[in-house]
Amino acid sequence: MTTTYTVRVEPLGAEVSCREDQTVLDACLREGVWLPHACTHGTCGTCKAIVLDGDIDLGSASPFALLDSEREEGCALLCVARPRGDLVVEGEVDIEDGVEVHPVRDHRGRVVTLEEVAPDVRRVVLDLTRPMPFNAGQYVQLVLPGGDTRPYSIANSPSDPRRIELHVRRHPGGAATDRWVFKDLAVGDEVALSGPYGTFSWRPARDKPVLLVGTGTGLAPLASILAQLGETAATAGWEHEVVLYHGVATKDGLYDRERYERLQQELPWFSYRPAVSREPVNGRQGRVTDLLAKDFPRASGRVAYLCGSPRAVEDTMKVLMRARLFPRDILREGFFDSADRASGTHVVRSPLIRR
Ligand SMILES: Cc1cc2nc3c(=O)[nH]c(=O)nc-3n(C[C@H](O)[C@H](O)[C@H](O)COP(=O)(O)OP(=O)(O)OC[C@H]3O[C@@H](n4cnc5c(N)ncnc54)[C@H](O)[C@@H]3O)c2cc1C
Ligand code: FES
Repeated sequence: MTTTYTVRVEPLGAEVSCREDQTVLDACLREGVWLPHACTHGTCGTCKAIVLDGDIDLGSASPFALLDSEREEGCALLCVARPRGDLVVEGEVDIEDGVEVHPVRDHRGRVVTLEEVAPDVRRVVLDLTRPMPFNAGQYVQLVLPGGDTRPYSIANSPSDPRRIELHVRRHPGGAATDRWVFKDLAVGDEVALSGPYGTFSWRPARDKPVLLVGTGTGLAPLASILAQLGETAATAGWEHEVVLYHGVATKDGLYDRERYERLQQELPWFSYRPAVSREPVNGRQGRVTDLLAKDFPRASGRVAYLCGSPRAVEDTMKVLMRARLFPRDILREGFFDSADRASGTHVVRSPLIRR
C-alpha cells in the first residue's frame, strides 16, 4: 500500500496530502495550492523551496539547479522531491492579481490534427474528453507511450478549454519527438496528458505595451496569449501596442506567417516582425536579439514575454535589460530538454531574475 504524508506549505499554512511516490509540487498543484514552477523536471531551479521540517527525497534535482551548498541548507526542488514523512516547506506563494489558479488534472485527448507546418515542426491538435481550464501561456505534460512525460506549451486561446493545440519541434534521437510525434503518432490516437502547468502566463494586471518574443516553437504560448488578447481586446478596451517577434533560421520556419500578417492588418495595436537570421524577409535579416536591440534601444515601460530555447531566452533577456527593462517585467519560458538537464548550462541563478 502506498503511504501518504501531510505537507504543510508556509507561509500559507495550507496542508495537502502527498503520496510517497508523488512529487511535492504535483500534490500541491493538484490541490490548487500554487507554487512557482517552470520545467517540472528538476532543471531550472524555479521551484526551489526551503524544507523547514521533515525528511525529503531530493529526487533527480540537477546538481546545477540545486547546488551542494543549497542541499546542505535544506533547500529542495519541489518538482522532483518526494516526502519521506510529514513535511513543512516554505515557498514563494504570492500570485499576481488577475492570474487564476487552475488545479492540475489528468486528461485524455484524441488527436484531431497532425500537420507539418514547417520543416521539423508539427502542429498537434487534441480534443479533450473534458475541459481543462488554463491561463494563456501555460503548458501540458504529454505522457509518452513508455510512461515518461514531456512538457509542451498550449498554443490556442483558453476560450476553448476542450481543445489543445501544440507546436512540436523534432529533436534528433528525441524520445517524444523523433521516436513518437514524428514517427508513430496518428490522427485518431488517444493521448494521456496532465495540466495546466506553468508560471509563464498572461498577466492581466500589467497594463502596459507588450513585447512577445519567441524563437522556433517558442511561438506556441505567445500564440495563445495573442489569441486571447485578440478575442477580448474590444470589450476590455485594450489599446497598448503588442509586438510579436518570431525568430527562426530560414523563411520556411516562419509557420503561421499569413495568420500574423493578416492580424497585423486587422488589429491597429498589433505588429508582427519576423526575425530570420539566414535570409532577408521584408527587407530585414538578423537574429531576433539583433533586430530587437535595433527596434527598442529603450524598452522600459513595457512587459516582455520570452519563449524558446533556454539560450535564446537568456540572450534576449540580456538585450532587454540593456534596454532598461527590469527583470520583473520580463517573463520567460525556456524549453529545457534532456540535454540541458544533463549539462545544466541554463539555470536561473539570480534571485533578481524571476519569472
Ligand atoms: C515548460 C516547457 C515547455 C515546452 N514547450 C515546448 C513546445 O511547446 N514545443 C516544443 O517543441 N518543445 C517544448 N519543450 C521542450 C520539450 O518538452 C522536449 O524537451 C523536447 O520536445 C525534446 O523532447 P524529446 O523527448 O524528443 O527529446 P529527449 O529524449 O528529451 O532528448 C532531447 C535531446 O537531448 C539529447 N539527450 C537526451 N538525453 C541526454 C543526456 N543524458 N545527455 C545529453 N544529451 C541528451 C537527445 O539526443 C536529444 O537531442 C518545452 C519544454 C519545457 C520545459
Ligand atoms: S520547476 Fe522545478 S526545477 Fe524547474
